Amino acid sequence: MYNQVLTSALSLALLVKTSSAQQLFAAHSDGNVSTLALSNNGNTSTLSVSSVTPQCESNPSSINLDFSQRILYCLDRGRAPATQGSLNSFTIDASGKLERIARVSAPFSGVAAEFFDIGDSGVRGYVTASYNRSSVGVYRLGENGALTEPLQTIFPNITSTGPVPLRQDRSYSHHVILDPTRKFILIPDLGGDLIRVFKYNKKNVAPLRELAPLVTVPGAGPRHAVFWKSPESGALYLFFNGELDQKVYSYRVEYKNGGLSWRQQFAIASVSDDLPATTAPTSEIAITPDGRFVIVSNRDVSFATSIKNRSGTSDTLSTFSIHSNGTLSPVQQAPSGGYSPRQFMINKAGDKLAVGHQNNNTVVIWKRDIESGKIVSEAEGGKLGVANLSGAVVFVQWDE
Ligand SMILES: *[C@@H]1O[C@H](CO)[C@@H](O)[C@H](O)[C@H]1NC(C)=O
Ligand SMILES: *[C@@H]1O[C@H](CO)[C@@H](O)[C@H](O)[C@H]1NC(C)=O
Ligand SMILES: *[C@@H]1O[C@H](CO)[C@@H](O)[C@H](O)[C@H]1NC(C)=O
Ligand SMILES: *[C@@H]1O[C@H](CO)[C@@H](O)[C@H](O)[C@H]1NC(C)=O
Ligand SMILES: *[C@@H]1O[C@H](CO)[C@@H](O)[C@H](O)[C@H]1NC(C)=O
Ligand SMILES: *[C@@H]1O[C@H](CO)[C@@H](O)[C@H](O)[C@H]1NC(C)=O
Ligand SMILES: *[C@@H]1O[C@H](CO)[C@@H](O)[C@H](O)[C@H]1NC(C)=O
Ligand SMILES: *[C@@H]1O[C@H](CO)[C@@H](O)[C@H](O)[C@H]1NC(C)=O
Repeated sequence: MYNQVLTSALSLALLVKTSSAQQLFAAHSDGNVSTLALSNNGNTSTLSVSSVTPQCESNPSSINLDFSQRILYCLDRGRAPATQGSLNSFTIDASGKLERIARVSAPFSGVAAEFFDIGDSGVRGYVTASYNRSSVGVYRLGENGALTEPLQTIFPNITSTGPVPLRQDRSYSHHVILDPTRKFILIPDLGGDLIRVFKYNKKNVAPLRELAPLVTVPGAGPRHAVFWKSPESGALYLFFNGELDQKVYSYRVEYKNGGLSWRQQFAIASVSDDLPATTAPTSEIAITPDGRFVIVSNRDVSFATSIKNRSGTSDTLSTFSIHSNGTLSPVQQAPSGGYSPRQFMINKAGDKLAVGHQNNNTVVIWKRDIESGKIVSEAEGGKLGVANLSGAVVFVQWDE
């Protein structure tokens, strides 16, 4: 009796503790996907690894979470001499442990993906972007994590080499996003200086049909993109980061003639106009949940071997405030907490940011001040946790 009471009290305490903790998933390119727990204890917090799975081997690169159905999709980039990657679905148990449901092939070198439900038809699409050889994989997903082989694979081409021949000798697809109406799929092509636009088939997802793209400034090297709607004017904008010219771009977007039309509104160096192109490549871009700030990650210190007057143990995150007309003003440059912050994700509350570092094998969690938009420094207690993982961290996903 006494023991039972004690046990219940203990499990209650555990439950309370668990419910105040936040869970994350991290993909690392050694083949593992980790489940992480960020727990708070008064003023101190700890980030720890609660489980690890190798079931998205050999090169996990991107995660998409169906939070409500507790399904995690993990894209495996593949690793030479293999010529294909894989798409894997997982269940998530109460402790955050991942168990693979299904696995099918994916185009080689997949670096990003998105899933979308088509109305309430029960049809779920999933589209991948592969970097090299540039390709777009199109899937129709089954229920409860069931997977089938891709319905279509597109191999985009470019017509001429861009200003950065090493990175723009061909098409390199890098990201997948949907527009706010969820009718169009956008795929930035770093090699082609394009943001490609596709329409999908509403009954079967495939075939994707390509429409007129956004043609960027030559040498921009568009990597990732995000939509933003002005709360004041209702006008729609697309922000994207040029990985190669290290700028952040803002374009006014309108729906016209069955597609999208674009007008450049603004551009600003992510770090500094003094940094020559390709010496401080940008990686991720995200908008805070309140829509007031855009954050971009820069590989400005880790890549800057030739720039003598830069040094440090960390790359940076640039925060800009967004004006109602789609222009940006710098707010802060803060350390990301390591080298090569390939990707980061802001939590839904907007008070935390998780960064995956490719060169330090870490996930670092930062506290954000929602009001000022600034990341809280380590000196001010803003570094909420660091997890050392077994390999290069390329994607981190909040479980929410
Ligand atoms: C994955 O994680 C396990 C457990 O932490 C570790 O033993 C292993 O070396 C890691 N790497 C791979 C490639 O499995
Ligand atoms: C937590 O931090 C606040 C503000 O910095 C401080 O007033 C409080 O004493 C701290 N609590 C503990 C348990 O350290
Ligand atoms: C892309 O793949 C081709 C072979 O298909 C290879 O020649 C080239 O070096 C690769 N480029 C990069 C940047 O990996
Ligand atoms: C791009 O070119 C290759 C041949 O080099 C071809 O197989 C492929 O279909 C082309 N892609 C498109 C979208 O036309
Ligand atoms: C290097 O220092 C010079 C002189 O202070 C400055 O103008 C320049 O912006 C710096 N370069 C970088 C890459 O920080
Ligand atoms: C990240 O790794 C690099 C070496 O690759 C090292 O110089 C740097 O100090 C590390 N940063 C942190 C914050 O540990
Ligand atoms: C956009 O708004 C900002 C802030 O009000 C203003 O400073 C800037 O001049 C405007 N820019 C354009 C292009 O309208
Ligand atoms: C993570 O690794 C770094 C250096 O590789 C080490 O200094 C640090 O103590 C480790 N942290 C944890 C929590 O293991």
